[in-house]
Amino acid sequence: MKKIEVKTESKSYEVLIGQNVFSQFVQDFNKPDFKILVVCDKNVYRLHRTRIDDLLNSKENFYFYSFNSTERNKNLKNTELIYKHLFKNNFSRKDAIVALGGGIVGDVAGFVAATYMRGISFYQVPTTLLSMVDSSVGGKTGVNFIEIKNLIGAFYQPEKVYADLNFLETLSPKEIISGAGEIFKYAFLADEENYLLIRNKLAKLLSEKKFDENLIARCIKLKAAVVENDEKELSGLRKVLNLGHTFAHAFESALKFQIKHGEAVIAGIFASLIVSEKLDIISKSDFQKYVSDFLFLPVNKKILNSDTDSVIEFMKSDKKTSDRKIKLVLASKPGNMLIDVFVDERLVKKSLKELFEIFRTV
Ligand SMILES: NC(=O)c1ccc[n+]([C@@H]2O[C@H](COP(=O)([O-])OP(=O)(O)OC[C@H]3O[C@@H](n4cnc5c(N)ncnc54)[C@H](O)[C@@H]3O)[C@@H](O)[C@H]2O)c1
Repeated sequence: MKKIEVKTESKSYEVLIGQNVFSQFVQDFNKPDFKILVVCDKNVYRLHRTRIDDLLNSKENFYFYSFNSTERNKNLKNTELIYKHLFKNNFSRKDAIVALGGGIVGDVAGFVAATYMRGISFYQVPTTLLSMVDSSVGGKTGVNFIEIKNLIGAFYQPEKVYADLNFLETLSPKEIISGAGEIFKYAFLADEENYLLIRNKLAKLLSEKKFDENLIARCIKLKAAVVENDEKELSGLRKVLNLGHTFAHAFESALKFQIKHGEAVIAGIFASLIVSEKLDIISKSDFQKYVSDFLFLPVNKKILNSDTDSVIEFMKSDKKTSDRKIKLVLASKPGNMLIDVFVDERLVKKSLKELFEIFRTV
């Protein structure tokens, strides 16, 4: 088992990573003198019912709320139902909420925890690869509003995160790829050694379908280092976590969310590397190396159906930009990131064309 300490301005907490870490969770809450609401993904409950029932039945002070984790259910209506559940069961500020599921459950339950009675304790038990390597750490919580993702939210750090690798065994291949997309970005967040390590471990994960706690721990450490220095995205450093994401969100919107977020991130990072090469931020030979190093990542060919003009339109209206100018996070080499780079839309269009040519050949 690995243990990582995350030290943010607002809170310090541990992230435990390993096989059967859930039993540590059960042990930690052996005799709580407070109530705990487990907010659970319905799929996770169906697939891991015995383990979850064992927990719920073992103690009186456990309460349960489940929902289908869809972006449609990541909304204020759902948070209202959870507030009512808490209130009906007399939850007070000394009680706690646990998110047991992927990023959707984590974001919704975290937002409820941040806002119910001005904040009650919050624990994360992430069950997808994406939520383990990314969303369960860092304190971003929130819901979608008027069709805009994560428009309403709060920064609210958990008390502890339990990343139990056993949950990952039931993930579909698509969900594994979705997590792989976020892992891809971590290759560029530190030095060459980290780049190689992430590249090799990610290739192994996809070919052998074995989840390596060292890889997951490495990603969490990288995310923690960024969050510790810019908890609330004030200095801009936290933006490095958005590598490939402006492209990715535009692909998702242009394709009406027919592809997984991580699949879009994979395409988005490749597209960002192409832009970097065109702007002479990276050399031709480095560019070719980075692309060939990561072309083992599965490509969703639906991306080829996206209309470049509408991708560009979505990029111009990205919520992180202003004045309809395209602004990107780019990497010049592993460990050297550039944020807020304004890029001409004609160059973006050329880059998309080149991306599609690469994707046609794989
Ligand atoms: N807060 C953050 O910092 C942050 C960062 C990245 C993404 N996000 C958010 O996270 C969400 C995406 O997270 P996600 O990809 O985990 O999505 P998710 O929670 O929807 O889970 C994806 C799918 O996997 C299923 N699932 C979950 N655990 C499973 C398991 N162990 N076995 C089998 N199936 C399982 C779910 O039922 C769902 O169908 C988005 O809403 C995104 O905005 C938040």
